[in-house]
Amino acid sequence: QTGMFTFDPGFMSTASCSSSITYIDGDKGELLYRGYPIEQLAVKCDFLEVCHLIMKGDLPDEKEKADFDHLVTHHTMVNEQLQTFLKGFRRDAHPMAVLTGLVGALSAFYHDSLDITKKEHRDISSIRLIAKMPTLIAMAYKYSVGQPFIYPQNNLSYTANFLRMMFGNPCEEYVVNEVVERALDRIFILHAEHEQNASTSTVRLCGSSGTNPFAAIAAGVACLWGPAHGGANEAALQMLEELLAQGGVDKLPEFVAKVKDKSSGVKLMGFGHRVYKNYDPRAKLMQETCREVLEALGLQDDPLFKLAMALEKVALEDEYFVSRKLYPNVDFYSGIVQRAIGIPTSLFTAIFALARTVGWVAQWNEMISDPDYKIGRPRQLYTGETARDVADLNAR
Ligand code: SDX
Repeated sequence: QTGMFTFDPGFMSTASCSSSITYIDGDKGELLYRGYPIEQLAVKCDFLEVCHLIMKGDLPDEKEKADFDHLVTHHTMVNEQLQTFLKGFRRDAHPMAVLTGLVGALSAFYHDSLDITKKEHRDISSIRLIAKMPTLIAMAYKYSVGQPFIYPQNNLSYTANFLRMMFGNPCEEYVVNEVVERALDRIFILHAEHEQNASTSTVRLCGSSGTNPFAAIAAGVACLWGPAHGGANEAALQMLEELLAQGGVDKLPEFVAKVKDKSSGVKLMGFGHRVYKNYDPRAKLMQETCREVLEALGLQDDPLFKLAMALEKVALEDEYFVSRKLYPNVDFYSGIVQRAIGIPTSLFTAIFALARTVGWVAQWNEMISDPDYKIGRPRQLYTGETARDVADLNAR
């Protein structure tokens, strides 16, 4: 027992920890946040209610919701100096490169929330991270398109605030499209938390050294960027767009054959999962959200969505994928929804990071609040040289 990971000698590669936040049954395709099925949370709650649930262990009542919304809303502004820091980046820098830098830089501003031994510091830094992530991402986007930063507005919902900071401008009033707001809020809920995925494990391992929460979450942002993890939504949409450009449904047999030929190195992005060996429940909800949004926006004939559905059908009937239990994961449809509501492709993974911040901070708090936690120190199976003597240089 190393305090964070428990190694079963028989399974050296299986590192695990105990947690009361999320339950996943990979074989059944079940996902529960604090005991509530994701299917119910996605349609009955808004994102901040789910944040309250994941952080505090239960859904808020009306007063608790009002208090929590007020607390988060009143921490959405960021120190003005961060604009100067941001302007040091190239305008065409990938938003995840910028976000990794900005989140880490929060450590340099919020000195009254760095001491992890103090509960009040842990609480306020958690709220600050959830509250400021939308502002930072919107700033990175505005900087990349050469538009002025839009400050948060406290009379808007969390998600409407983000949309206005992203797509509003000082010249005219921004009107929030409720279909877009609801769809984005659901995307946040579906990405909020997912047990010990790579980026959450990164946050736990980084945080276990006692570093400050902003540094630990910045490590999670960096890990999520990878195409095998949060970067898959961007990669999945690019895969579908290339397929469409090459001929769409007619090209599917050739594309699937290439995926099945491992030497091609081509992966079916948005498919497969380390844990789900059944349909990722989030993918089903994402597909439904996609259909609803496209219909509401008059885009029901969107060729990319039709191609994605056709590709899913082909894969789910193909022995190669069925035998390997490869099903769509959360990333397969999320790019199509985000594209339909106007989110630039380069920001898809940043949106994932925005949503997953609550999962990261909740898991970090759960670990740090355990008086018996120790620094994570995974061991290895040594496969190198046996001990040997150093020969003199002229004798080597
Ligand atoms: C996320 O962990 C989480 O919870 C992550 C996440 C979260 O919410 O935090 O759910 C978010 O990261 C979802 C995953 C997003 N990534 C992708 O969509 C990228 C494409 N998927 C693959 O890279 C892959 O499926 C992984 C990385 C997700 C899982 O890889 P594994 O562990 O190799 O999958 P596996 O053991 O189930 O693979 C079984 C077989 C292998 O072939 P064989 O050696 O048996 O012949 O299926 C193959 C794999 O090579 N395979 C794929 C494939 N995924 C697995 N072949 C083609 N396309 C794929 N997508």
